Amino acid sequence: MNIKACLFDLDGVVVDTARYHFIAWGKIASELGFNFPETENERLKGVSRMASLDILLEVGHINIDPSQKNLLAERKNNLYVSYINEMTPDEILPGVIQFLDELRSEGILIALGSASKNATAILDKIKLTEKFDAVIDGNKVSIAKPDPEVFLKGAAELGVRPESCLVFEDAQAGIDAARNAGMHIIGIGQPENLKNADFVIPGFQNFNFNELSALYFQ
Ligand code: BG6
Ligand code: MG
Repeated sequence: MNIKACLFDLDGVVVDTARYHFIAWGKIASELGFNFPETENERLKGVSRMASLDILLEVGHINIDPSQKNLLAERKNNLYVSYINEMTPDEILPGVIQFLDELRSEGILIALGSASKNATAILDKIKLTEKFDAVIDGNKVSIAKPDPEVFLKGAAELGVRPESCLVFEDAQAGIDAARNAGMHIIGIGQPENLKNADFVIPGFQNFNFNELSALYFQ
């Protein structure tokens, strides 16, 4: 088997921004008069901003018109941006930088494939932009995960066929997107939350090029 490129989701794989999304959505929920419990947060992972808002409103049993929805999504994003503006490279998850550096020295191409429209700003804040050969974010795709568009665009920008790409994802919507793209997949997190990945690992702390080779290059 021949892996020529690795595609990384951002939120939950490279950095733990899920808690910032959760705090921002929690504020919107309390302004609307209900509590958004942490147990529901898993459903927001990998899902676009407007789809996240729909889930939030469903949890709160709230019906509003599209223009109000746009205002709420904008307000949530302003809150979220105020948190990510404070991010530093210290927030990169353990082992990520070393793994990216190893991949580059082994000649494996690297892309980001994120649903977030804030992905470029986050990469800039954590000073990781230069580690990626291509960046596909929520501004470059028209159909959200689980549609494969984000990863297929990443593969095309790298000039690598989908079957030679490996995706790292922490959300079920992202794993489904990678599967729909015909790519190899490693889930990041707990196996019970991540169905249909080739393998699931807790993170990059104890995962390096040797482990990757043992899984895919023999
Ligand atoms: C994904 C997150 O990466 O980006 C989702 O996992 C989020 O929780 C989505 O809703 C969209 O992010 P943004 O920054 O465009 O609102
Ligand atoms: Mg994610």
